[in-house]
Amino acid sequence: MRRFFISGLLVAGLVVLVGVGFLAWIGPRGGLTPVSPASSNARDIQQVYVFIGAFASAIFLVVTVPLALFTIRFRRGRRERSVEGPQIRGHTRLELTWTAIPVLILVVIAVFTFWKLDGIRNPAPAAAAGDELVVRVEGRQFYWRFLYPNGAVSYDTIRLPVDRVARLEVTSPGWDVIHSFWVPALGGKVDAIPGMARELKLHPTRTGSFEGKCTELCGIQHGAMLFTAEVLPEDEFDSWLAGATEQEGLGEQIFNSVCAKCHFAAPEYAPNIAGNPALQDAAQVEDIVRNGFRRMPPVGRDWTAAEVDALVEYLGGQGGG
Ligand code: CUA
Repeated sequence: MRRFFISGLLVAGLVVLVGVGFLAWIGPRGGLTPVSPASSNARDIQQVYVFIGAFASAIFLVVTVPLALFTIRFRRGRRERSVEGPQIRGHTRLELTWTAIPVLILVVIAVFTFWKLDGIRNPAPAAAAGDELVVRVEGRQFYWRFLYPNGAVSYDTIRLPVDRVARLEVTSPGWDVIHSFWVPALGGKVDAIPGMARELKLHPTRTGSFEGKCTELCGIQHGAMLFTAEVLPEDEFDSWLAGATEQEGLGEQIFNSVCAKCHFAAPEYAPNIAGNPALQDAAQVEDIVRNGFRRMPPVGRDWTAAEVDALVEYLGGQGGG
């Protein structure tokens, strides 16, 4: 029995080593483990992941290792097929144990999760609540539009200051479809629902450039709805925000985020518009982006005049596309 127990421990140790090695190897490649957190929300989410993962791994070992050993140890061998095993039933203590332990594990997991949930949903310390940066996040076929309190707008790149709570109002225009906003390094995902704003509070804790994507199948170019979250030092963010209303480079940003994703990247869906004379006609460009054209959705139905002008100006400067 002792030898049996020791070999069990050895096998379990080996499985743990192989498992940890495998995760460490494939984690950064296959996305099986969470990305390194860059906000207090993401850090709390990762703690819940590790906590529950530890229990899940332990349960996996407790089930599979004895299963493998029992299969070998108690195989039929030379015994007759009809030989009966020992008949055990009504072992009260054993039954109580295997009921109580799982209940206890679930209670511990639930308590830990609910305890962490508050920090994940609401990372703002009460004192800092007035200092929140509010950004309107709009998911659209097939780009992201970010609006800042001073009227600045950016496409497919959201910039946030470090060490300050950002309150994102995630939504989608009434004529669009459901998208989902997710920056894994910064926190959980939240759906962008047409005509309805949902709140997502983030508290970035380190600067850097983080990948974001749309996680709701929203149409033919859903896969192109990638974006970047740039977390900047406070003063760098402030000077960017102050200058962003001048809309420099906005036309090119709009073209790359909105037009190019279909007209250059999806020829089976949208015609290549390079060199199309319509691009030089301001009235025609405005009509198409505001009202759509055939299968093309009205991508800019509610854009400001400044946004449409920026695009028109950029297209004009392309000299025929
Ligand atoms: Cu938007 Cu998928």
